[in-house]
Amino acid sequence: MTDFKATRAMFHLPDGVTYLDGNSLGPLPRAAAARMGRVMQDEWGEMLITGWNKAGWMAQPGRVGDRIARLIGAEPGYVVMGDTLSIKVYQALAAAIEMRPERRMVLTDSGNFPSDLYMAEGLIRALDKGYELRVVAPEDVEAAITEEVAVLMLTQVDYRTGRMHDMAALSAKAQDAGVVTVWDLAHSAGAVEVDLAGCNADFAVGCTYKFLNGGPGAPAFIYVAPRHVERTSPALSGWLGHAAPFAFEQSYRAGSGIERMRVGTPPVLAMAALEASLDIWDQVKMADVRARQIALSEAFIAQVEAACPGLTLASPRDPLQRGSQVSFRCEHGYAAMQACIAQGVIGDFRAPDIMRFGITPLYLGDEDIARAAGVIACVINDRLWDRPEYKTRANVT
Ligand SMILES: Cc1ncc(COP(=O)(O)O)c(C=O)c1O
Repeated sequence: MTDFKATRAMFHLPDGVTYLDGNSLGPLPRAAAARMGRVMQDEWGEMLITGWNKAGWMAQPGRVGDRIARLIGAEPGYVVMGDTLSIKVYQALAAAIEMRPERRMVLTDSGNFPSDLYMAEGLIRALDKGYELRVVAPEDVEAAITEEVAVLMLTQVDYRTGRMHDMAALSAKAQDAGVVTVWDLAHSAGAVEVDLAGCNADFAVGCTYKFLNGGPGAPAFIYVAPRHVERTSPALSGWLGHAAPFAFEQSYRAGSGIERMRVGTPPVLAMAALEASLDIWDQVKMADVRARQIALSEAFIAQVEAACPGLTLASPRDPLQRGSQVSFRCEHGYAAMQACIAQGVIGDFRAPDIMRFGITPLYLGDEDIARAAGVIACVINDRLWDRPEYKTRANVT
C-alpha cells in the first residue's frame, strides 16, 4: 500500500492553504530545491560544458522518460522528454498523419484542449493537402470513427469537467478502422491508471507540471508505440533527434527509436526539479492513487452538494468516468473562486462558469476535503463572491 502520509510530508504546502489545483500546477516537492541546487553547483558550476557527458545530461530525456513510462503503462524505452506539450502534440499528430497518407481527416472532440486544436489547425495549414479537422461532441466520438479518418486525436480526461474517455474501447474501434490514435495525457498522467501498451495506443503526449509536480514550465513527454517508432518520420527534425548529432551532417537522418522525437537542447535544470518529484512517484502505486482519489472525490462531491444546492456538478457522477478533478458550474464562478482563494482554498476557474478542483491524494487527505467544502459553502451561501475585489479578472484564471 502507498503511504500517503509519507508522500504528503514530501511536499511543501504553505501554511493556511488547502491546495486543490494540482491538476494545473502541482506543489513543490521539498527535495526539489536542493536537487536543483546540486545540479547547478556541482554539475553546471563545476563541470561546465563537460556536464553533458560527465553528469549524463544528454541521456536525461530518455532516463526521465522511462520513469514516466511506468506511470502511463508504456514500455520502457519508448517515452522521451522535451519541449512543451503543444509542441509534442504537433509532433505526434504530424507523425500519425503520415502513417495514413491516403486519408484526409483528423477526428477530435469539442472537449479537447484548445492548444491541441490550434496545433492541428496549424499543421493542416502547413501541410496544405486538404486535411479536415473534424470536431464532434465527446459522446459522438465513437460513432465518428470510420475508415475515412486518418487520426483520432483526443485528450483522455476533459480539462474542464474531468470526463474521461474509455481509452481501451476507442483505441480498439480505431484500430479496427485503421485509424491511428494520438492521446493527450495532460490530465491523466499521475491522475488515473493509464495502460498505453495494453490499449495498443499509437502515440501519446503529456505534460509534467500538473499531477506529476515537475514545476512551472516542466518539460513534456512523448510516447511512440514500439511497433511504429522506427518508421516514424519526425516533422520537427531537430539536431538532437538526428542519428549522429555531433557529426553535424548537412541533412537530417532520424535517430534510432524514441530518440528521434527529441528536437533541441534538453531543459536540464527543469528536469532536475522533475526528478525530485519522480523520486516521490517511485514510491507510489497508481492503483492506490486512483482508489484514494475516488474516495476523496466522492466525499468532496457529497459535502459540497449537501451544503450548496446552488452549485451544479459539471463532472460525471460515476467516478469511473471521471479523472482526478471535480468541477462545479456556478454562475459567479470566477468571483466565487477568488473568494475561496482568499480563504486559503485554491482551485481554479475555466470559462464560462466552471469551478475546478483537483483531488490529489499524494498530498490531500480527508481533513483538506472537509475544510475545502466548508469554505466553498461559506463563499456561496454567505455570498462572499459578491464583493468587488473578487470580480476583476487576472490574466491567468
Ligand atoms: C490537455 C492539454 N493539452 C495541451 C496543453 C498545452 O500544454 P503546454 O502549455 O505545455 O504546451 C494543456 C495545458 O494545460 C492541456 O491541458
